[in-house]
Amino acid sequence: MATHVHLGKSDVSVHPVGLGTNAVGGHNIYPNMLDEEQGKEVVRTALNNGMNLLDTAYIYGPERSEELIGEVMSEYPREEIVLATKGAHRFVGNDMVMDNSPAFLKQAVEESLRRLKTDYIDLYYIHFPDEKTPKDEAVGALKELKDEGKIRSIGVSNFSIEQLKEANKDGYVDVLQSEYNLLHREAEQDLLPYTAENNITFIPYFPLVSGLLAGKYDENTRFTDLRLKNPDFQGERFKQNLAKVDELKEMAKAKGEEVADLVLAWYLTRPSLDVIIPGAKRPEQVKSNLRAAEISLSEEEIKGIDQIFS
Ligand SMILES: NC(=O)c1ccc[n+]([C@@H]2O[C@H](COP(=O)([O-])OP(=O)(O)OC[C@H]3O[C@@H](n4cnc5c(N)ncnc54)[C@H](OP(=O)(O)O)[C@@H]3O)[C@@H](O)[C@H]2O)c1
Repeated sequence: MATHVHLGKSDVSVHPVGLGTNAVGGHNIYPNMLDEEQGKEVVRTALNNGMNLLDTAYIYGPERSEELIGEVMSEYPREEIVLATKGAHRFVGNDMVMDNSPAFLKQAVEESLRRLKTDYIDLYYIHFPDEKTPKDEAVGALKELKDEGKIRSIGVSNFSIEQLKEANKDGYVDVLQSEYNLLHREAEQDLLPYTAENNITFIPYFPLVSGLLAGKYDENTRFTDLRLKNPDFQGERFKQNLAKVDELKEMAKAKGEEVADLVLAWYLTRPSLDVIIPGAKRPEQVKSNLRAAEISLSEEEIKGIDQIFS
C-alpha cells in the first residue's frame, strides 16, 4: 500500500487514512459529540501517529470545528498538515441556504482562513451544490483562489454525476467527496467510474456507517443520537445489517484484524478511492483506523467482502 498518495492532479500528498472531524467542535445538531478538549486530543492523536489529512467544514459547529482545528494546528509545523475544509452553507436570518456563487465562495474561503489561523487551505471543497450557479463557474472561482495560493487543490462534495461533469469541464476538480460505504454503494454506478477515468480522488464519507460497520453493536444497542432516526439502525433492516457484519467478523477473526480495519482496507482497493476519512471519537479509534493502510487483502477476500454486501 502506498504510504502517501496525491489528491487528483494536485501536488498535495496525503496519508491514505485521514481524520473526519465532524464530531470535533460540538456540532450542535448531533447530541453525541465530543467536548472540546476530547476533540482536540483526537486530532492530536491523529497527527502524532502519522495521519496528516484533517477533514473539517465551516458547518461543523458551525465554525467551531475549524477554530479548534486551527488551535491544534498551531502546535505543529504547518507543512506537516493537509487541511481540508468545505463551504457553501449561508445563513439568511435563521434559514440556511446553499450558495456556490464565486463571490460567496471567495468570501467563505477568507473566513475559513481566519478561523483556521492559516494563510492557505490544502483542499477546499464546495460542500453541497446550489440550485443556480453553473458548476464550472463555481469551480472557476476556486481555480482563481488556487492561482492566488489561497488553496492548493479543489474538491466538490455531494455532487451528482451531471454536476460533477459540469464542475470538471476544464479538468480542475481534484477530489470528489460523496457518501459511499458497503451498505450504500450507489456511487459504483457512475461516480466511481468517472473519478477513476478522470484522475479525481474519490473520498467516501460515512465509511463506517456511523460505527455500524465497526462490529460493536447488537440488537440490544440503544442509540441516543442521530442514529435513532437513521433507517440503517431501525427494525428489520438493522437486524439484516448486523447479520452481514457478523459475517465480516468471522473474516476479520480469521485474518487477525479488527472489523473496522477490514472494511476500511476494502475501500482502499476501489479504483480512484485512495483516501479515507473515518470519523473517530476516541484516540484508540484513531490508532485502530490507521491500521487499515497496512492491511493487504487477497483477491478472494476482496470478493468475499463484496459478496456479503452485494
Ligand atoms: N461531505 C459531507 O457532506 C460529509 C457528510 C458526513 C460526513 N463527512 C465527513 O466524513 C467523516 C466520516 O463520517 P462520520 O464520522 O460521520 O461517520 P463514519 O466514519 O462512518 O463513522 C464514524 C464513527 O464510527 C465509530 N468508530 C470510528 N472508528 C471506530 C473504530 N475503530 N472502532 C469502533 N468504532 C469506530 C465512532 O462512533 P461511535 O464511537 O459513536 O460508535 C465514529 O464517530 C466525517 O467526520 C466528516 O469529516 C462529510
